[in-house]
Amino acid sequence: VVEWSGVANWDNSIVPDLAAMADVIHQHGAKVFCQLTHMGRRGTSTNSSRALLAPSAVAEPAHRERPKAMERHEITEIVSCFAAAAERVKRSGYDGVEITSYGGHLIEQFWSPHINHRSDEYGGSLANRLRFSIEVIEAVRERVGPDFCVGFRMTGDQLLKGGLGHEEMKEIATRLAELRQLDYFNISGSTGETAELQAKTVPSLDNPLGVFNRYAASIREVVDVPVLVAARIVEPAMAEAALRRGDADLIGMTRALIADPDMPNKALAGEPEEIRLCTGANEGCIGRLFQGLTVRCVQNPVIGHEDELDELTPSPVRRRIVVAGGGPAGLEAARVATIRGHDVVLFERSSRLGGQVVTAALAPGRAEYGRAATWLSRQVVKLGVDIRFETEATLEAVLAERPEAVIIATGATPRRPDFPIDDTVRVVTCDDILRREVTIQRGDRCLVIDDDAHMRGPGAAESLLDAGATVEIVSREQTIGLDIDPTLKPALYRRLFEKGATLTPLTEVTAIGNGAVQLEHVYAGTRREVAVDLVVLALGGTAEDGLYHALRSAAPELPVYRAGDCVAPRYLYDAMHEATRIGRQV
Ligand SMILES: Cc1cc2nc3c(=O)[nH]c(=O)nc-3n(C[C@H](O)[C@H](O)[C@H](O)COP(=O)(O)O)c2cc1C
Ligand code: SF4
Repeated sequence: VVEWSGVANWDNSIVPDLAAMADVIHQHGAKVFCQLTHMGRRGTSTNSSRALLAPSAVAEPAHRERPKAMERHEITEIVSCFAAAAERVKRSGYDGVEITSYGGHLIEQFWSPHINHRSDEYGGSLANRLRFSIEVIEAVRERVGPDFCVGFRMTGDQLLKGGLGHEEMKEIATRLAELRQLDYFNISGSTGETAELQAKTVPSLDNPLGVFNRYAASIREVVDVPVLVAARIVEPAMAEAALRRGDADLIGMTRALIADPDMPNKALAGEPEEIRLCTGANEGCIGRLFQGLTVRCVQNPVIGHEDELDELTPSPVRRRIVVAGGGPAGLEAARVATIRGHDVVLFERSSRLGGQVVTAALAPGRAEYGRAATWLSRQVVKLGVDIRFETEATLEAVLAERPEAVIIATGATPRRPDFPIDDTVRVVTCDDILRREVTIQRGDRCLVIDDDAHMRGPGAAESLLDAGATVEIVSREQTIGLDIDPTLKPALYRRLFEKGATLTPLTEVTAIGNGAVQLEHVYAGTRREVAVDLVVLALGGTAEDGLYHALRSAAPELPVYRAGDCVAPRYLYDAMHEATRIGRQV
């Protein structure tokens, strides 16, 4: 494995692993293709100490490492490496290869005049800038022969000021198609140049559904091989509609299949309502991958843990189980325990299921995040879980059910501040804002304290801005929303700044009183006072573990488990993961 979790296809040692992969996939009746790329200046020399290669010594702003301009012999070598890699893929039993330029990889770097400043036959005119890609395509085709499928992935518009626009990409697609060496095109949009554009290559829920369909539709007019489109096509009906409209001949659905690998089977079975729909929030998958972490999924806790969690086995004993809390962790535990044959009673304090997810989905532009609870809620109802709405899971109420096991998923309560507060300033939580429980007047001076370092504080801030308030967000960290992943942060920052927010990192709140907030710079120690009408706390949570401990001491023999934020507040996929394990264990 190399940078970006790619597979190092640069010598024959990879063949046994590729062959094993192809074999497993074929056993399930699917076809398997492998992408071929060189990242050029998008790589890193961190591990290899070898300078990055690029058409010219122009660094990519998103990663900053300055590459060396490729020498002629390096161009020749990389062309032949593409061909050798394609042959290995074929030899390993794959059904095809996809050469990719997409996301600002080396081939796209050669096409781009703002990156490619060469004065030899690989730079200058479009014909020259295309030369490297044409050599790669021809070398690959020659090596794999006419009958092996070779596709090509490219952007339909870099969306970059001064970059390659749609008409230029259409011209490039036309010329590549004229080679008559490619079997299909795979079209998306954006490029890897900046943090914001890179984020858009896996467009989050900030982007419209089917966001790149129009580029595929347009390129489909000028090439005479099938065109595939990918990005924000989240359910089979959308895919069918895109095909019917003629946007594309093939549909790519990456995150939709991560969220529900059984999606095609459910669609074939005529059960589209059974599909776990991707939220598009990127929190578990690409948001983690971009930070060098393994892929997980907020919608599907099995992802990344398939070897241990794939199959649900019936319980040898049927038990009566009480689940306390109808948030995602409680729902997942109840779902899995019920499927395994247990009788489950679920206590939910409020009148609806979904817990914190429902509140988080109220932030501007985050409605699709709610899907992380929609499917689970439907499933527990369908499975016949005995749901007791508006019922507090007290010690007495739980024990009155005579449970044989209890799963606590009572979540967390907002953490209280550790600085003094008087009653001259309205102080509320970010959840109060998201739930519209606070009246905001146009022009209200609001200060959001972002200790949570994730979406809650900025989300509440955006709600306030939309209501006409003036907003400053302070955080003791180096940036606001420090832990928000790189696929979400650029668009969030753009919206916050465009709406007029002031972002003040490295700043702690020391007191709230006399109609003002006292602030102190984390390093300089300098102090200032800000007059405010409203303070919004986004301080994270405190585990609501009272019931757990009460049960442990009142009924020491009773198996009591707990999952999610009531253990310790963490991410949604952590809560789901813990819950699914307990559902399998109980
Ligand atoms: C976890 C993950 C890994 C990805 N890896 C690649 C990759 O190796 N090559 C590539 O061209 N696109 C990659 N993509 C982008 C997808 O191919 C696709 O363009 C993008 O996710 C948008 O489609 P979707 O909305 O169906 O997810 C990846 C996406 C995700 C979520
Ligand atoms: S983590 Fe979120 S965006 Fe990624 S596949 Fe799962 S639901 Fe979709």
